[in-house]
This record gives sequence, C-alpha cells and structure tokens, in this order.
Amino acid sequence: MNLKITGLVKEYEIQRALDDFHLKIENISSLVIVGPSGGGKSTLLRLLAGLEVATSGDIHINDNHIINDEKWLKEYRKNVGVVFQAYNLFPHWTAMENITMPLIKVHGYSKEEASEKCLTLLRKFDLLEHVDKIPAKLSGGQQQRIAIARALAINSELLMFDEPTSALDPQLTSGVLDMILELKKEGTDILMVTHEMAFAKKAADHIVFIDEGKALENASADQFFNHPKNERIIEFLSHSNC
Ligand SMILES: Nc1ncnc2c1ncn2[C@@H]1O[C@H](COP(=O)(O)OP(=O)(O)OP(=O)(O)O)[C@@H](O)[C@H]1O
Ligand SMILES: [Mg+2]
Repeated sequence: MNLKITGLVKEYEIQRALDDFHLKIENISSLVIVGPSGGGKSTLLRLLAGLEVATSGDIHINDNHIINDEKWLKEYRKNVGVVFQAYNLFPHWTAMENITMPLIKVHGYSKEEASEKCLTLLRKFDLLEHVDKIPAKLSGGQQQRIAIARALAINSELLMFDEPTSALDPQLTSGVLDMILELKKEGTDILMVTHEMAFAKKAADHIVFIDEGKALENASADQFFNHPKNERIIEFLSHSNC
C-alpha cells in the first residue's frame, strides 16, 4: 500500500484529534498504528476508511484521493473492508446473512453468488459450523472472525482494523490475530490500530506512533522496536511486553 497524508487536521468541536498530521509510506504491506489512548489513532483510521471527513488536509491512499464528496465517499466505502473493536455484526442476522446481505444489497450479487462466496470464506477459516448462528450464539472471537470474513468478502485488497481484539480474552485474541497473519501471508494489505505490541512486532512491516494528533515516529518495525530514538516511545515501549 501507498499512503501520503499531508497537513491533516480533524477537529471535533473544541477537540483537535489530528493536528497537522503528515505521513508518507510506499510499498508497505502491513502498517500498524500504535500510541497512547486519545492520541488520534481511531480518528485517523475513520478518515482513511472514508467514514468521516477531515477538517483540512489531504489523504492519498493507493490510487484514491479521499475527497469530501458524499457520492464519492459512498463508492469508496464500498471497497474498503473495516473491522472494529466490537459490535461488528448485525445481532438479528445469522453469520451467513451478515456476510451475504451486504454483497446482495450493496454489491449487486445474486443470492446464489453471495451464498457461494460466503461458504467458501467460512470453509477457509474453519467457521462453517457457525453459518446459521446469530452473533449471540457465538463467542467474541468467532464473531470477530465472521466480521473479518465479511470484510474480506468484498475482495478488498486493503483491510483496516481498529483494535479488533481488545474486547477478547487472550485465547480468542490469538485466533483472530492468526487469521490476520494468514491474510497478510496471502497478500492482503493490512492497516491496523492495536495495543497488542507483541502482535505488532510480529506482523507489522511498518509502525506509526501517534501522540497528541501527530505522527511522532514513522519507522520500520525493526527500527521502532529495536532502536527507538524518541524518549516518548522508549517510555511507551517500557510499559509494553516488548
Ligand atoms: N466523535 C468525537 N467527538 C468528540 N471528540 C472526539 C470524537 N472522537 C474522538 N474524539 C477525541 O479526539 C481525540 C482522539 O480520539 P481517538 O478516538 O482518535 O483516539 P485513540 O488514539 O483511538 O484512543 P484509544 O487508544 O483510547 O482508542 C480524543 O481526545 C477524543 O476524545
Ligand atoms: Mg481508538
């Protein structure tokens, strides 16, 4: 993935969540965004996914220049797979319906095509036995894996995750993280916000550290974890398990 962000500002009333944010990366397959709570990570992800618009500044992501035009954003959103921390699935729909409905309603698949696509994905990730269950009958980890399968169903070459495991216990977390690693191995680009520093170390090609609305560090995973220079980052890492 290529990303070029210049002078990005996002204000919520009196709060400036992103403050003259700059970032340029090229040819990276997995980018992990880390940093202290309230720093602006989720805000950045929502802007990258086209779910919110910036107050000012520019975002270029792969061949897209994200613009503040509702019609353009609606098209853009269709092709970006996003998975959030929790509550990703519609509670009254089965796993199958959660995956097939967007394909039918938004992407114009026939019911048969959508079902076939869904079953292929569930089989691949060993989730077939859950096909007819509603989310309340699934564990948190199973729900998140269904949500990832749904994001993947649109054939997005780029998947975005905002702390997909923070609502899960360690065992369920590893199932979800393994699935993300598997996707990366298969060539899907990953853009992920996480507090799982051990996972970041394993999965990230590149790390961006965000604090107070700015990118304080933008480095390869090796550089970030093994040779951090910034005092703020050294302190942050000293509190993690890395
Ligand atoms: N919808 C909103 N309305 C008002 N303020 C917001 C909104 N969303 C975020 N903020 C503020 O913007 C700042 C950045 O928030 P953001 O959610 O991006 O942080 P974060 O880095 O994802 O934090 P965390 O690690 O806790 O998830 C915070 O001060 C937050 O209170
Ligand atoms: Mg957040």
